[in-house]
Amino acid sequence: MEGGLVQQGGDRVGHVNKVGYGKRIIVKKRKQFQRRIHKKTVPKSPKSLQALFLSCRETFKGYGTVPSSEDVQKLCHILDGMKPEDVGLRSDLQFFKPENTVKDNQRVTYTTIYWCKNFSLCLFFLPAKGVIPLHNHPGMTVFSKLLLGKMHIKSYDWVDPEDHRNLLHQPSHLRLARLNANDVFTAPCDTSVLYPKSGGNIHEFTAITPCVVLDVLGPPYSKEDDRDCSYYRDYCYDAFPYGESGKEKEESNCYGWLEEIEMLENHQMDIIEYLGPQVIDTDL
Ligand SMILES: [Fe+2]
Repeated sequence: MEGGLVQQGGDRVGHVNKVGYGKRIIVKKRKQFQRRIHKKTVPKSPKSLQALFLSCRETFKGYGTVPSSEDVQKLCHILDGMKPEDVGLRSDLQFFKPENTVKDNQRVTYTTIYWCKNFSLCLFFLPAKGVIPLHNHPGMTVFSKLLLGKMHIKSYDWVDPEDHRNLLHQPSHLRLARLNANDVFTAPCDTSVLYPKSGGNIHEFTAITPCVVLDVLGPPYSKEDDRDCSYYRDYCYDAFPYGESGKEKEESNCYGWLEEIEMLENHQMDIIEYLGPQVIDTDL
């Protein structure tokens, strides 16, 4: 990603992009960072990031865990108060500047702050016009906090065919979903939460300006545990004749047909190393 996430001319490393910026700069910055560790102490985890980590560890106990409303409130309260600085970012970094060159082939980048089998903390960096296409979160509860930028979020939940007899004849490659959100969000804004079967389990992010999203996934994706990520294309409800009767017809704007698709090449993501403040795992 060009115009990446390293603060140019500064003395602090936030996040380093593995593509774009030259290796020389990265090495130099890392040396400065290491020297500082020797002179002083290891940077402390910001209170909010550490509180988020500890709260996640109390909340997510493995597959099948759906947080109680108290746990959801607690996590949302922590996330609502989080700022870019808590993960080593600042809004004046080159990546977030309006004059940052926008290229059509800029890809979304992500980094993992913490991962264990019960939950993960990740950051997604979207350049302006960057898209994370419609994707699902099987059996997962996900908290998303937009830390920087402005983005459009569209989300759906599946309509259960067994609850709607007229849907039993729908073709196997299409599945009816109810629109949950279709709005523009600007940071700082409240945390959004999706659940295994509600809240917008299938969602799409489209960046209007460069954005950063902090995601808490409980549990994380896992191919071995049958929680792989699937991607979808949506069609408006009126595009197909299935489900011609019933409430859906009257509220066609609230529904869409989803078709599973392969991840497109230009939607592949780059991965970078997380070099922001670390959480302290007191179990270690
Ligand atoms: Fe997602």
